[in-house]
Amino acid sequence: MQTVKVDLADRSYPVYIGSDLLGKPNAVFDMCNSGTILIVSNETVAPLYLDTLAASLTGADVHKLVLPDGENYKTSEYWSRIIDKLVEIRATRDATIFTLGGGVIGDLGGFAAASYMRGVTFVQVPTTLLSQVDASVGGKTGFNHPKGKNLIGAFHQPAAVLVDIDTLGTLPGREFSAGLAEVVKIAAIRDAVFLSWLEANSPEIMAREPVAITSMVRRSIVNKAEVVAEDERESGVRALLNFGHTFAHALETLTHYRKYLHGEAVAIGMMVAAELSESRSLCEPGFCERLGKLLQSFDLPLCIPDSIEANDILETMKLDKKVIAGSVRLILVKSAGQGIIDSSSDKLQITAAINANKAIC
Ligand SMILES: NC(=O)c1ccc[n+]([C@@H]2O[C@H](COP(=O)([O-])OP(=O)(O)OC[C@H]3O[C@@H](n4cnc5c(N)ncnc54)[C@H](O)[C@@H]3O)[C@@H](O)[C@H]2O)c1
Ligand SMILES: [Zn+2]
Repeated sequence: MQTVKVDLADRSYPVYIGSDLLGKPNAVFDMCNSGTILIVSNETVAPLYLDTLAASLTGADVHKLVLPDGENYKTSEYWSRIIDKLVEIRATRDATIFTLGGGVIGDLGGFAAASYMRGVTFVQVPTTLLSQVDASVGGKTGFNHPKGKNLIGAFHQPAAVLVDIDTLGTLPGREFSAGLAEVVKIAAIRDAVFLSWLEANSPEIMAREPVAITSMVRRSIVNKAEVVAEDERESGVRALLNFGHTFAHALETLTHYRKYLHGEAVAIGMMVAAELSESRSLCEPGFCERLGKLLQSFDLPLCIPDSIEANDILETMKLDKKVIAGSVRLILVKSAGQGIIDSSSDKLQITAAINANKAIC
C-alpha cells in the first residue's frame, strides 16, 4: 500500500492506494471517532463491494444506505435520504460516513457529511477511475440543482481516502477511458514527465495492468494533492484543473448530458484548448497532435460533432460560472506539462479553434 498526504494544516489527510484495501481498512477505521458508521453506496457498486467493506469494519456499528445509480440522483432529494438515515440511526457528531462509489456518491455523501450537524467525519472510498484520481481528493462536495450542475455544495475535506485499484476490474471500458481524460488533464497542465510516461505506458494502462495502474493513480493523486494544498478553495492555481472543462461543460449542456460522459467531453475540450494554445502561438507546434494521439490511444473522442456550431458553444460558455466579468477565462497550455490561466482569447480566435478542431475529424 502507498500513502499520499494531502497537506492542509489541521485538515490534512492520507490517501491510501493499493490492492485489496477494502478488505482491510484498519488504518482508516482508527480515524473514526465513534463506532457508528454509515456506508453510502449505490445499486451498482453495493452488490460488488459493500459487504467486503462492511465486514472489514469489525467492532463498529455499521449501517448501510444504497441509493439508485446515476447523476440524476445527485439531488436534494437523495441528500435528504442520507440525512434521514443518519437521523434514523441516531448518528451523533462523532459518526463517520463512508462513501463507496464514483463521484456521484462521493459528492452527495460528502455533502451530507458537510451538512449533518454542521459537519461529521467522512471517508471517501472511490470506485471509478475518475473519482480515484480527481473527485475524491480536494473536498469539493455537493449536488445538482435543476437549473445547474453542482450549484449547491461545500468544501469539506475527508478524513481519509481509500483507493482500492482492484475495484477498477469491474468498471465498464467507457467509464475507465473517461477517467483517463482527467489523468491526461493533470499531466498536461503540470507534469511533463508524467505525460511522457502515459504515452509510453498506454498499452499497459489500457490492459489495466495493476503495476501501471497503481503508478498512474498515485502520480495523478500526488499532482492533485499538490494543487489542492496550494489553493484549497480555488482562488488561484486550482483553476488549472479546469483545463478543457469550459468547452466540455458547453458540450455537455448542448447535448443535454446524454451524448458524452464527462471525461469524454473533457477530452474534446482539451483538444480545443490545445488548438487555441497552438494557434495563438502560446505553446509549441505539434502539442495538439501529440495530445490527440494520447487521447485516441485511450479510446477517447477528439472532436466537436458537426451538428454543433461554434457560436452555440460560445453562447453556452458565457453562461459557464468560470466566465469572469464578460471575458472568457480559459486554461491554455504554454508547453506540455505547463498550463496557464488566460483571459485574453477573443471571440474570433476561439471560433477559429473550434472550427479547426471540427476539421481534424
Ligand atoms: N468533487 C470533485 O472535485 C469532483 C471532480 C470531478 C467530478 N466530480 C463529480 O463526479 C461525478 C462523476 O463521477 P464518476 O465519473 O465517478 O461517475 P459515477 O459516480 O456516476 O460512476 C459512473 C458509473 O460507474 C458505476 N461504477 C462505479 N464504480 C464501479 C465499479 N467499480 N465497477 C462497476 N461500476 C462502477 C457507477 O455506479 C456509475 O454507473 C459527477 O457528478 C461530477 O460532478 C466531482
Ligand atoms: Zn472533470
